[in-house]
Order: sequence, then structure tokens, then C-alpha cells
Amino acid sequence: MKNIFVLLLSFTSVICAAQSRSVIELEKGWKFHKGDAATAEAIGFDDSGWQTVTVPHDWAIYGPFDKEIDKQTVAITQNGEKIPTEKTGRTGALPFTGTGWYRNTFDIKDFAADKKAILLFEGAMSEPQVYLNGAKIGEWAYGYAYFYFDISDKLLEGQNTLAVQLSNEEFSSRWYPGAGLYRPVSIVIKNAESIDQWGTTITTPVATAEVAQVTIKTKFTGENLRLMTTLYDAEGNKIAQNATTQSILNQFEQHIKVEKPHLWSPENPYLYTAVSRLYAGDELKDEVTTTFGIRSIHYSAENGFQLNGKTRKFKGVCLHHDLGPIGTAVNKAALRRQMQILKDLGCDAIRSAHNMPSFEQLELADEMGFMFLAESFDEWKKPKVENGYNRFFDDYAKRDVENLVRATRNHPAIVMWSAGNEVPDQYGSAGVKRARWLQELFHKEDPTRPVTVGMDQVKATMESGFGAILDVPGLNYRVHLYEEAYEKFPQGFILGSETASTVSSRGIYKFPVVKASMKEYPDFQSSSYDLEYCSWSNLPEDDFILQDDKPWVIGEFVWTGFDYLGEPTPYDTSWPSRSSYFGMVDLAGIPKDRYYLYRSRWNTQDETLHILPHWNWEGREGQKTPVFAYTSYDRAELFVNGKSQGIQIKNDSTPQTRYRLMWNDVIYEPGTLKVVALDENNKPVAEEEVKTAGKPHALKLEADRTNLKADGKDLAFVTVSVVDKNGIPCPTATNQLNFNVTGAGSFRAACNGDATSLELFHKPTMQLFSGKLVVLVQSSEKQGTIKLQVSGRGLKAESIKLNTSL
Ligand code: GAL
Repeated sequence: MKNIFVLLLSFTSVICAAQSRSVIELEKGWKFHKGDAATAEAIGFDDSGWQTVTVPHDWAIYGPFDKEIDKQTVAITQNGEKIPTEKTGRTGALPFTGTGWYRNTFDIKDFAADKKAILLFEGAMSEPQVYLNGAKIGEWAYGYAYFYFDISDKLLEGQNTLAVQLSNEEFSSRWYPGAGLYRPVSIVIKNAESIDQWGTTITTPVATAEVAQVTIKTKFTGENLRLMTTLYDAEGNKIAQNATTQSILNQFEQHIKVEKPHLWSPENPYLYTAVSRLYAGDELKDEVTTTFGIRSIHYSAENGFQLNGKTRKFKGVCLHHDLGPIGTAVNKAALRRQMQILKDLGCDAIRSAHNMPSFEQLELADEMGFMFLAESFDEWKKPKVENGYNRFFDDYAKRDVENLVRATRNHPAIVMWSAGNEVPDQYGSAGVKRARWLQELFHKEDPTRPVTVGMDQVKATMESGFGAILDVPGLNYRVHLYEEAYEKFPQGFILGSETASTVSSRGIYKFPVVKASMKEYPDFQSSSYDLEYCSWSNLPEDDFILQDDKPWVIGEFVWTGFDYLGEPTPYDTSWPSRSSYFGMVDLAGIPKDRYYLYRSRWNTQDETLHILPHWNWEGREGQKTPVFAYTSYDRAELFVNGKSQGIQIKNDSTPQTRYRLMWNDVIYEPGTLKVVALDENNKPVAEEEVKTAGKPHALKLEADRTNLKADGKDLAFVTVSVVDKNGIPCPTATNQLNFNVTGAGSFRAACNGDATSLELFHKPTMQLFSGKLVVLVQSSEKQGTIKLQVSGRGLKAESIKLNTSL
């Protein structure tokens, strides 16, 4: 986990004499240039004409969208394609390819010769070449890896210049990877005698309601030192302490007993902190704070997956790392909002598909309560895309795995590692050896968590032994092979490491309402009746049945929680499709209908009663217009303008009738659609209505938060919708809206969730999609009030006030 250090500064200059350790976050003062720049690494290089940016930064998200960018004429063999076709928008059609340079000049004060300095990158997209004061200090390859360099003998007291060159090849990704320094960069300054980078490992080999054993291993540099470790509970009370001078090979090992611990779980994400103080005599040499949780995990044929001794199934989603309209530049407020939406869904687990998660996301998973499947690679040695990770596997796989585990292993949220996703190495004996080598590498770094690989070539992995050697056999789709895999594999349980890949567009409904694979429409949208999927995938219910009926299935990770940039299946070859249709939630963060289908079974705290479609079908009068309800109730009665359409009860006749209530023969007439949920005695227990809206009349603004931090980074997400003169939402409105932000903040971006929109996210104007869009407002560093005003032709302008405080 990210250690919280004694001092955390985001200034570009810092004095570190008095403190044992300090961290300089290199956020501000960066200069950026897209393109090659000869001698840009040199100290005196004139970068005054370059763009001033803050890091994290994604250079490509500002567009423009262009179908020629990274156009891939390929057959996607893992999708069963045999003939190459022209894929536009596969990687988002945003300008991430090519070279970019970043430079930062900063002051370091009181950096004495006996100090140590570490330069840490939490992700750099990609192939970074790093220069300090004109000299190359190192390089890396994988854009998702965390890495650091010891710059103790290169950092100068006074002015320093850091220059980073990044380059992204064409044909290097299957989705939008982003570009640039999209995750934090920092410098850690500490004493020569100090705790090593990622040197603290905390495990809880005993974790029961009565007692826990907290084992802390601390790697350090120096001699004759003493380590004092103090544990604090979530309220900051000191609960235990241990001091030791005994070390072996520069590692201390302490075992601390905690009575009646609060066990960490998604339902009770209780966190402790450990403060590690390193002394030479009485002198404090280093101090590191680590957040941790006390919990146990266990996987077995008898009990499946157990957290704290209780069997449970993962109610998980796969997420890509982009944050929609702000791209890949990591932002904690955006991540928190995403995870709040997932909490309300009842989701309890996240898979970082298909790469290392950000530290921020893991911190939030610990705090908010999500179990985490931390993945590493989408490719090993055999390519999926020509310039993918296959180019780096031999040189970097070991280092990338080590850094992943060392940097993140203290997060209680992480309950499993993934060594890869659908790697073509599933075929052939070399791949089996690679799987084993990687798994052992994970085990060496972390003996406490199992390793999985998401497998799509299930038959091949049954034959080769690939599936049998994994700690956790993960199946991607292939619901028809679950039984056979369970029989053939020795583990005694199966994980749905990737499921569903059902596609839909928010608020779009197509007729006739039929189940279909790879269905395409002239408007490049998919139907929100949730009956459309891919040739390799399935509908949600096919997974629900396995999850509910097979005790040996230990859960699922649905593809995907949110839409993401790139991979616009089934419209891979249809310009201007440029983002995915897989999400339960759209790219703007607005739930689609499908969200409520999952919510109706995952969220066991709150009731779900959701009806679809909308009821604005001018021209469909007299025609069959099916109505579905996604609900936690078993039965309901539907009314159209007060006329009963009958009672539907969930039943086993088809996968869909088991989980959805469906009235397939409803004849459309404008007015009110009302669903009344019933108990087993047919007594009404809840109801929900949808009304036909008139013309767009007014705007409605709803912010996810109205009190922001005045830190220049915090974001409010304001959902904008259009209503008619009676306040009824207009579900088909497409008005062009304009945004104006004044006061202590600025307009950051807008997004409407339309996968075919080429409007730029950072321009203060956008068209509504299915009556809605979201505006992102960012705080400044000044305390005060922010006003967002939204206007549109023929509509009454509306505004909302947000407060910011320090
Ligand atoms: C899977 C793959 C994902 C995504 C998904 C789309 O096979 O692992 O990355 O491509 O298909 O359905």
C-alpha cells in the first residue's frame, strides 16, 4: 500500500533537514511537449514555449477523435475472427501514439551527502526514458508498471531538472491506454539508514474474532539499528507496540498480538495503522506509516472462497483504468464516485483489467470495502497485438510482478493476484511453463494470496495442464464449459474471472425485442433490453444460474462495471464508435438498465424495482412494446394508464424469466406505465412509474457532492437532465447544452455516455444523450463558492452552487 509518510508536500521545493523522511509530490510546474524534441533532456533546454501541465496528466484525452489514429487492420483471433477487417476506434481514436516529453525543474534544499533519494513513478505510459540533470538515469517499458530509481548520487542540492520521454507505439493495445505521466511522480528523501522502498510487509496469519497475529517484516539499510513498531486502531488509539534489534539479512520480523480485532471485510472495512520507527541509539532515523487490515482468506474445494471463515461468492466487476471524460489521469474523486456507484450496486469486488491498479484505487478499496483481484498482464510472450507486452516479457515480467506485489501487498482489499488475461500462451507447453514460473514468482513475493489467470481457451488449458496448475482456475465466459472444467481441473472450484459481456446503450431500445449475438443497428447503438451479447459471451442470467446453482463456483467478475474508451464491440469496424458498450454504467457514470438487474440480486440491503423501457414512443401507438422489471421482488403487476397487464412471477421456464419480470405483449399508448411489486399474497409492497414526457422545457442539475476540497483536484459530478413543463424527464432529448463555471473552480469535462459522440470532453458544450449528460467541475486551491450554469436553446438556464473549503 502507499505508505503515508511523516511529511507530504506538493511543492516543488522542500527542506528535509529536520524530518527523518519527506516526500515531494511532483505535481506542478511540469512542461509538456508532444513530439520529438532533440536535447530536451539537457539542463539549459528552453521549454518556455511548452505547455504547462500538472501531473497526473493524459496528453491524449483532449483529442480530437480521428479514425486514422491507431487504425488496426487485423483479425482479432481471440474473438474468433479469421479475416482481417479495419478496426477504427479500437484504442479510442484519441492521439495517444507517438512521443511526448515532460520536464520539471525544482529546488531541493539541504540535501546532504548522507541522504538517500528515490524517484518513484506510479505509472508512465509508456516506455519511459528518464533523465535527471541532463543524464539518463533509467528506463522502463510497461506503461502500467510501478517503478523507481535510486537517485541519491544524482540529485543535487539546489536546482534539478527531471526530463521524461514517453513513446507509444501503434498496435500496442486492445483498448485506450492513455498517454503520458498519468499517475503520480514523487521523490522520497530519507536517511541512508532507513526503511527500504516498499520494505514493510504486514500479514495477519492468525485473524479470528478473538485474536490476531500481526506479522511485520521490515527491510532496511544500516547497522545496529532498532525498530519500534506501534499499532493504532481506526480511532488513532495505540493498541500494541513492539521493539526489536534482532534482524537477519537486514530484515526485522515482529509478531504482535491484537485481542478482539475488528476484521476487515467489504461490509466492515476496518483499517489499522502501523507506525514503524527506526532508531540508531536514541536518534530517529526513519518513520513509515502503513495502513493494513486484519482478515483471513481461504480457498478450498470444501468451502469455496472464504473471507474471515465465511463462504461468499465474488459479486465483482472488471474495470479498465480510464475514467471516461478525464481519460487515464488518475483522480481520487473520480475513482471514489465510481466506487460509490458500485457500492450502491451491491458489488463487493473489482478486477483491474488487465493491468496494475492505481494506488489510489487500492486505497479506496481498503477504505470503502471492495475485495480486489489485482491483475498484471494482457499478454505474455505471445502477441495479441503486434507491439504489445510480448516485446518486454523476457526482460521485464519478473521486475513488473515484483514491483506490483511489493508496492501493494499490504492492502487488505487484495485477495487474489492475476498473472494474466486470455494470454495466447494458453496454447503449448511453453505457456504452461510460463504460467508456473509466474505463479511461483507471485508466491515467492507473497505466499498469502492465490494466483489466477483468466482463461478463454478452456479446452486447450484442460489438455495442456495449464488450468490444472493454477491456484484458482479462472474462466472467461464459456459458461457451457464450467461443468467440464470443474470435473477436469483438480482445484474443486471455478472462478468466473470474466463474465457476460452483454452490450447496451443507455436509454436506447430496439424492436423487435429478441435475443441476439453481435447485433448491429444503423445508429451504432445496442439495445437496453439487455438481450444482446458477443459471439464469445452471454447474457447475465447464464452466469446467475451457475452462481446460484453450483456451490463450486466462487463468484464472478462482470465485463464491465463501467464503459471504457476503445473496444467498441460489436461496432469495432463502424466509425464513429469509439468506446465500449459493455458497462452496466455508461462512460459518464450514469447507470444503464442492466445495472438494476445486477443490483436486484447483489444489493441485499436495499430493494430494487426498476422498469424499462422509457415511455416516449411516438409512432409506436398500438404496437407491441415489451416492458421488463428488474427487481428484488419475486412478482409484480403492470398497469398501462391504469389497465392491468397481468401479474408476472419469476419462474424457471427460461433463464430470463428466472431473474426478470417481462410483459412481452404490452401495447404502447402514451401515458403512465406503473409497476406494482407484490408479496406472495399479491399484496402491493412497492411501486414505480414511468410517464410519457412532453417537450423539453427545463433543466435539472444534481451534483454527487456539493462540498469540495479546495485542493485544485477535487471534482463534483453534476448530472444534467431535461424535463418537460410538468417536471417529467425527457428520455429522448438531444439538446445541445453549454456550460459556464465561475468562482472558486473550473469546468473540467463533460460526457453524455454516447459511444458514437465525437464531441470533445473538455469543451464546455455537449449534446444530451437519452436526455442526460454529466458535467465535471473541478475545485481550485481557493476556498469559496463555485457556480455552474447550464443553458441550451429554448430551455430555461439553470445553475447550481458548490462550496469548497481547505
Ligand atoms: C474478453 C477480454 C476483455 C474484453 C472482452 C470483451 O475476452 O478479456 O479484455 O476484450 O473480452 O468481451
